[in-house]
This record gives sequence, structure tokens and C-alpha cells, in this order.
Amino acid sequence: MASPLILVNLKAYREGIGRGAHRIAAAAESVADESGIVIGVAPAFPDIHPISHHFAVPVYAQHVDGIQPGAHTGHILAESLRLAGAVGTLINHSERRLTLADVEAGVSAARAAGLETVVCTNNVRTSAAAASFSPDYIAIEPPELIGSGVSVSKADPGIIEESVAAVRQVNPDVKVLTGAGISTGECVRIAIDLGTDGVLLASSVVKADDPVTVLRDLVSLL
Ligand code: G3P
Repeated sequence: MASPLILVNLKAYREGIGRGAHRIAAAAESVADESGIVIGVAPAFPDIHPISHHFAVPVYAQHVDGIQPGAHTGHILAESLRLAGAVGTLINHSERRLTLADVEAGVSAARAAGLETVVCTNNVRTSAAAASFSPDYIAIEPPELIGSGVSVSKADPGIIEESVAAVRQVNPDVKVLTGAGISTGECVRIAIDLGTDGVLLASSVVKADDPVTVLRDLVSLL
């Protein structure tokens, strides 16, 4: 069976930009090496190229626009993300919501550029809708638990189970990640046992004094 994916979103946290992004990526690389578990990072756009250049970890963008190369200004082009070293991208994160049409355009543009697609959703119905675009992953994240320190695995396991079932019904090839408040190996284990393929998380790693220790704990029960 393929390794679960532990995907760390660095957001725009001060601790996760510039040298901070290097610190997290180094921790991810080291824990991935010792555990054999795939640990990806999603840094801010300016950090994508340096992180992908210096570290052997999969790098994801935090957003992509559904545009083609041409006369666009201030947009994020899928092809330029790939050239910068990204292997994939988040789409429709709770902190970067899109219209349904924009989600579809983003998935198509990313796929055409050879990027993995991780569409974030906020409930079971939007998970089912997003599954119809056949992204590689859907990341279910109840917005009220994001950054709360309260784990979705424990606070709302039902949304995980129901999302997995809803996504499978639409397209069984789409994998599901769990996100919001994930901070320990137990949270990750519960998410996997509920049928998901990994986790999307941020604050517990990015804001940690010692990200290596947190990451070791996160993979400890896999
Ligand atoms: O993208 C991951 C995120 O929204 C969850 O954040 O801080 O609750 O792990 P956090």
C-alpha cells in the first residue's frame, strides 16, 4: 500500500517563510528519511523554488489560478509552479476560497501542467462536488477547527467517514486527506483508520519550537 501523505501547509506564518520555510523543510526531509513516510510542504510562493532546490521533499503550492500562459498579471500559472519545482498544488483552501468554476479551472490547469491536485473542501457536500473534477486528493477541513488545536479526528470523525464515502461514490480513484487541528500521531492514526490517505496540517508543525519532534510523533503510529 502507498505511503500516507503528511502535507504541511506553511501558510503565511512568520515561522514558515524564508529561513523558517527552510527549517520546516529540513525537518520534513529528515523525518521522511528516517520513517519512510512521505512528508510534503506547501510554502509561500516565493519559497517554492529555493525549498524544492535545497530539499528532497515534495513541494506544493498553496493556490493556482485556472489560466493559460499569456497576458495575465498577478496570477499564479500552473506551468510556472512546475518550473519552480512544485509537484502539486492546493486549490480552494478555506483561506483562499474559489468559485466552483474556478476550482474546476484550477484543477484542469494544474493537471495539464503535470501537477498533483489537492482540492480543499469544508463539508461532505462540497467534497462530493469536488470529487467530480477528479483531483488527486480532496482535503476535508472543517473551517471552525482550522488552527484551533482541536483535532477533526477526535471532534468530528463523522465528517471524515462521510466525506470518504461521498467521494468514493463519485470517484473511487480520488484520495482523501483529513485536515484541521491535526497535531499528534493519534490524530493521524484515527484519520487513516477512518479511510483517508493522509493529513493536511499547519500550525502544530509550523509554530512548533522543534518541528522534528512534532513530525516524529505525527508519523509514529503509521
Ligand atoms: O491547510 C491546513 C490547515 O488549514 C489546517 O491548519 O493549523 O489546523 O493544522 P491547522
